This record gives sequence, C-alpha cells and structure tokens, in this order.
Amino acid sequence: DYYSSGRMLMRLAEAVGRLVLAGRELTKLTGFTTRVTDLIGVLSDVNQGIYVRTGINNTIMDTKNNEGRIRTQDGIIKFENVKLMTPNGDVLIENLNFTVQSGQNVIVVGPNGCGKSSLFRTIGELWPLASGTLTKPGSGHLFYIPQKPYMTIGTLRDQIIYPDSYYDMRRKGIKDDNLNELLDKVQLTYLVQREGGFDGVQDWMDVLSGGEKQRIAVNILFHYCFLQKKKKRQIFIIMI
Ligand SMILES: Nc1ncnc2c1ncn2[C@@H]1O[C@H](COP(=O)(O)OP(=O)(O)O)[C@@H](O)[C@H]1O
Ligand SMILES: [Mg+2]
Repeated sequence: DYYSSGRMLMRLAEAVGRLVLAGRELTKLTGFTTRVTDLIGVLSDVNQGIYVRTGINNTIMDTKNNEGRIRTQDGIIKFENVKLMTPNGDVLIENLNFTVQSGQNVIVVGPNGCGKSSLFRTIGELWPLASGTLTKPGSGHLFYIPQKPYMTIGTLRDQIIYPDSYYDMRRKGIKDDNLNELLDKVQLTYLVQREGGFDGVQDWMDVLSGGEKQRIAVNILFHYCFLQKKKKRQIFIIMI
C-alpha cells in the first residue's frame, strides 16, 4: 500500500511539473499569436488605406537628409538638440538635450514604445542622427549589456572568461584567484560555492537570474578591460 501510494504521489508531482511547463509554453504562444494578429491588423489597415501611424505627433521626416553630427570625446555622452527619429521617419523626441558624465549613473524610464531603446540605437549608430550633435566616447570605451546576455555552454569559468577558453586563460597567466577578484566586484562570489566551483557545469541560461546574467556580462567586460589594461581609462556601460 505504502509503495503504490508513494508511486502515485511521485507521478502526481511529475504531472504538476509538466502542467507548469505547459503553462509557460502557452504564455509564450499567446505572445506570438498577439504579435501576428497585430501584424495582420496593420496589413489589412494599410490595404484599405486607413492605417494611422503611432508616433507622438505624426510628423514624418524625410529620412534622406540626416544632418546630425557625431563627435568622439572620452568620458561624456551628450545630446544637443537631437531629433530622435525612427528609420521610417516617425519623430520620437523633437528636441533632446542632456549630458551624462563619466561616473554618473543614469536610469532611463518611460512607457513601452516611447523610445528608450531607440535612444541607444542612436548612440550605437544603428540609426541615423537626423539633426543635432551627439558626443560620445570612442568604440573601445562604450559597452552595451543586453537584457538577456548570452551564456555559453560549459563551466562557470567559461562564462567569465568568454570569449577566451581555459587554455587561453592559462596561457595569459590568469589564475582562478584573479577571477574571484573580478566576481567580487559584481558581488557574485557566492556563485562559485553555489554552482560547484569554477568547474561546475550548468544550464546557465536557466540557473542564473536575469540580474545575475547581466552581472556576469559586466564581469566579462571587466575581464576584457583587465586584459587590455584599460583599468584606469574611463569606460561607459549601457545596460539595456
Ligand atoms: N526598426 C524600426 N523601424 C521603425 N520604427 C521602429 C523600429 N523599431 C522601433 N520602432 C518604433 O519606435 C518606437 C520606439 O520604440 P522603442 O525605442 O523600441 O521603445 P521602448 O521605449 O519601449 O524601448 C515604437 O513606436 C516602435 O514601434
Ligand atoms: Mg525597449
């Protein structure tokens, strides 16, 4: 009796686990179908000629005349009279002016679709600068950390020294102690214990929280700067 009810309980637990997973998949599916439905809606509106753009004031700019200037200067990000515009000409922000000095922490907040990511696309020169002046550090001094950083397959050490291998690391004379110092900078030393040492292998995309993944990514950056001996130079990190 004990044996069979024990088995049944096990099965029950498994079934609940599967239900939870199915729920997660269903939520994802809802996201996808909503997007497709939105797209079909927009396409049919366009066909009937009744589509209305969703920009703040429906101003549409000519995207050919991009007269914005980009200047390179260390230790500063500065927008002067910049018109923030999508590649198809929707104006997101009419006249943007602000300065961020090296050493300042800035958080950009706003509702969905207001242009937060677009701001960084403009800084990253993915999008053209319609007008105004953008001053920013050169490419080796400005780094972007995405919302969902990429984790590689392999050990905890592999995550930190990416894109180097353990072989490269030893060749460069870096010790696990050095990695510990780096982890300490982003308050992640507990990971070494929790995940079974630097040689622990996990499905890192799953076992690390969003914030932990981002901090590992910052760590990769520190590691990179450490190797480049850029420690003393000013760098900017943009966490998207
Ligand atoms: N590649 C693109 N081409 C045209 N419009 C875009 C493009 N990417 C985003 N947009 C539009 O620009 C606006 C701002 O988007 P975004 O900066 O991503 O918003 P968020 O503030 O949520 O990060 C949205 O209305 C979006 O639809
Ligand atoms: Mg965004």
